[in-house]
Amino acid sequence: MKVLITGIDGYSGWPLALHLLGRGHDVVGIDNFVTRRRVKEVGSWSATPIPTFARRQAAVHEILRKDIGFYRGDLSNFEFVRRVLATERPDAIVHLAEQRSAPYSMIDVHHAVATQVENLTGTLHLLYAMRECSPDTHLVKMGTMGEYGTPNIDIAEGFFEVEFNGRKDRLPFPRSAGSWYHWSKVFDSGDVMYATKIWNLRSTDVMQGVIYGIRTPEIRDDRLLTRFDFDETWGTALNRFIAQAVVGLPITPYGRGEQRRGFIALEDSMQSLRIAVEHPASRGEYRVFNQFDAAYSVNELAHIVHRVATDLGLHPTIDHPTDPRVEAEQHYYNPLHDNLIALGYRRTRELEEVIREIFHDLIRYRRRLEARRHVIQATVQWRSADSRPALAARHAETPPLAEKGHPAPPAGPQGSSEPASAHPTA
Ligand SMILES: NC(=O)c1ccc[n+]([C@@H]2O[C@H](COP(=O)([O-])OP(=O)(O)OC[C@H]3O[C@@H](n4cnc5c(N)ncnc54)[C@H](O)[C@@H]3O)[C@@H](O)[C@H]2O)c1
Repeated sequence: MKVLITGIDGYSGWPLALHLLGRGHDVVGIDNFVTRRRVKEVGSWSATPIPTFARRQAAVHEILRKDIGFYRGDLSNFEFVRRVLATERPDAIVHLAEQRSAPYSMIDVHHAVATQVENLTGTLHLLYAMRECSPDTHLVKMGTMGEYGTPNIDIAEGFFEVEFNGRKDRLPFPRSAGSWYHWSKVFDSGDVMYATKIWNLRSTDVMQGVIYGIRTPEIRDDRLLTRFDFDETWGTALNRFIAQAVVGLPITPYGRGEQRRGFIALEDSMQSLRIAVEHPASRGEYRVFNQFDAAYSVNELAHIVHRVATDLGLHPTIDHPTDPRVEAEQHYYNPLHDNLIALGYRRTRELEEVIREIFHDLIRYRRRLEARRHVIQATVQWRSADSRPALAARHAETPPLAEKGHPAPPAGPQGSSEPASAHPTA
């Protein structure tokens, strides 16, 4: 199959490209490198050094003997999106190219608006371009389990039967998101569902749990590594805990630490996306996959990280700072997740073994973590309308970014040394 990955330079887009190539699929990607620029904006970088995209393509060619087609461009540009779809007419699009950080969306009004405008615009542009140029293409859209919030009942897989005032219907499960970012995903889901219905498209909405891990079997060389973000804005709680343990800071579950979320290993997330691609939805079908493997509380994560760190001779402590978010710190959590299992999904990785693997990689890159240790603790506050002063104060203490062998991207609208292109490069 030919698969177009939007956001191919990102944390999950890159290993997905490698995984699909390994399964014999043709892969074409789109990216505008905005994540590289935004991680730099908050004074951080990936713990794993990430080469330019051209170097990544060259490494794939040399190591895997495969080629990745690439269009540099922004999904906010409809002409660009339409041109790519008209040229490629892919069998599937895996749409990952969105602003994906909840704290980033909560910094201030500008970050909230950018998140919602960019995320909704990109998805709508893809839907319109599919309708016009490639209506048989299957859209696999990355949503998030965070769309559902933490209701006091089981969470259905997209739809559920409701009886109200004596009448029954099958309705979308209610959404109750916890950041401007998560609400952008809710609105996206509505748009994908509606476009599928009115234009008879094919779509799968993936309610993605939190992904963990840096490696997949295809990542056989450091030049193929994916990014690992650990700052308060871009790093997940688990990533931050491991980084804290490596650099000797306390591990910091927020508040009571009983917040539960669904998690999945990177390798198993790639497996799930590949299954979704290889089993397309029917014309006119909008289906939902709750894509996670197991639920853990933040305290459970902290204690596993603490145990592994102690085994490795590190001596972390655990602190409980006040929760900067507005969220239930203790709640019921039981999402259903049967649809992927019915299509053959099986868990291959366990949380603790992946955490050990991450530690081994991060200890090698300890100096990169040390250089950015002050960006791990929380400064963005959900109740504040403007966290920029706190971020700016922290930024003032940040030493300049420079990386031997992997120069930091130059400041500029795209934050990357890649040339702009409306034509594919292989
Ligand atoms: N990583 C997780 O744990 C997780 C969990 C739930 C949902 N998700 C969702 O999965 C998707 C991918 O997440 P990720 O962790 O790989 O994020 P990422 O930020 O690492 O990757 C996204 C990529 O898309 C690119 N991009 C963003 N906006 C773009 C635009 N308008 N035009 C072109 N390129 C653009 C970025 O430069 C980046 O390379 C996101 O939609 C995210 O919301 C991720």
